[in-house]
Amino acid sequence: MPTVAIVGGTGPEGRGLGLRLAMAGYPVIIGSRDASRGADAAAALRKNDAGLPITGATNAEAAGDADWVLLSLPYDALNDTVGPLTAALVGKLVVSVAAPLVVKDGHFKPVALPQGSAAELVQALLPESRVTSAFQNLSARDLLRPDHVIEGDVAVCGDVDEARKQTMELVRAIKDLRPVDAGPLANSCYVENLTGLLLNLNRIHKSHATVRFLGI
Ligand SMILES: NC(=O)c1ccc[n+]([C@@H]2O[C@H](COP(=O)([O-])OP(=O)(O)OC[C@H]3O[C@@H](n4cnc5c(N)ncnc54)[C@H](OP(=O)(O)O)[C@@H]3O)[C@@H](O)[C@H]2O)c1
Repeated sequence: MPTVAIVGGTGPEGRGLGLRLAMAGYPVIIGSRDASRGADAAAALRKNDAGLPITGATNAEAAGDADWVLLSLPYDALNDTVGPLTAALVGKLVVSVAAPLVVKDGHFKPVALPQGSAAELVQALLPESRVTSAFQNLSARDLLRPDHVIEGDVAVCGDVDEARKQTMELVRAIKDLRPVDAGPLANSCYVENLTGLLLNLNRIHKSHATVRFLGI
């Protein structure tokens, strides 16, 4: 199975995705700006099951050692973090998880990026990588509870067919999730912004809403 690195993997979303992918059998490297934070996060996740294939490293080591790489960083950290990883990521599948949002007056609001979406920003930063977009609509809190069933669809965008297929394979590996081919990376803005709606709905309804596309 391909080794999956999660750059920015010490945050709740990265740890949650790392846990679920390791539970599915993928070797996972949790990346951090600080190697010891990566190692500590990996050790904490292994408390769920000592046999889980999760290790920690710096973001650069993780990106270099992995076959596939998830970027689970705040959107405003993408520019400075991804640039130095360019060489390590040439030719690799790179999955953008970021949802550019801010909280204003108690509501989540989308942040408009000049490139159109965080995923398109990543593709502009990494022209020689195969960039896709996925997982933005999954809550870290749900991912981090290994017994919690997360039913729902994960829209996968990307301009390269093979990269979209590989990302859909990752989604399918997480029990009860269904990947939905969402076409080119230009569609990622809708998926990223949908996270804001879900978070606002969850506040209103005190819920844990996920997405299901009926009719597909
Ligand atoms: N949280 C959720 O439920 C959720 C759900 C869906 C999508 N997302 C998206 O997933 C991404 C990650 O979410 P998160 O909540 O896990 O984020 P986070 O905790 O704010 O950040 C993730 C990690 O990124 C690193 N980081 C933070 N600021 C940085 C900076 N300025 N420069 C470089 N690295 C920095 C930190 O790792 P180190 O300090 O170890 O380097 C941090 O642990 C976000 O883009 C978010 O929109 C989150």
